[in-house]
Amino acid sequence: MTRKRVAVLISGRGSNMTALIEAAEAPDYPAQIALVLSNEPDAAGLARAQLAGIATAVVDHRPFGKDREAFERALDDTLQTNRIDLVCLAGFMRLLTPWLVTRWSGRMLNIHPALLPQFKGLHTHRRALEGGVQRHGATVHFVMPEMDSGPIVAQDSVPVREGDTEETLAARILEVEHRIYPQALRLVAEGRVTLAAATAATRG
Ligand code: GRF
Repeated sequence: MTRKRVAVLISGRGSNMTALIEAAEAPDYPAQIALVLSNEPDAAGLARAQLAGIATAVVDHRPFGKDREAFERALDDTLQTNRIDLVCLAGFMRLLTPWLVTRWSGRMLNIHPALLPQFKGLHTHRRALEGGVQRHGATVHFVMPEMDSGPIVAQDSVPVREGDTEETLAARILEVEHRIYPQALRLVAEGRVTLAAATAATRG
């Protein structure tokens, strides 16, 4: 088995990154985490990745100012240099332009803390509580140029309980995230889910 070389892109604590690293330790896992890449030099996840013996890189977006494409070219160069096959966005807090997204079409996944297409964007737990939904969840999807859209690879939900706060709900959803992201990456790395197949399934 040739394991796919995966880069995990983070901006913060990297708990999803850790879930992927731990899953990839299984001998039969079809992917290895070859690189953790952050746009934030101080992201806590970088230290955790280094502890696990994984190569890390920082591409700080600030020096590029408003030139998003130049930032993305630097990201892409780092991915190419590390011979990356698949990219997992995991709390990566930069919007990507169609340039990079198209380049990695079918090879870039994102995790979103809601049951897409519900609650795209930020503050999903607050909005779920305000909306009074009975179930809330998380989604792994292929990345498309439009934010938080794209064919779904994996999705699961938990009940919203009476008395839930943003924090208690976020913690319950995070458990879902840590379960479905490694499952989704496995499906894509094994070629059992492709962009074309996920597109057909999402359309129904
Ligand atoms: C997660 O809730 C993820 O769904 C969202 O950002 C958060 C990142 O958390 N996109 P972590 O850095 O993986 O702990």
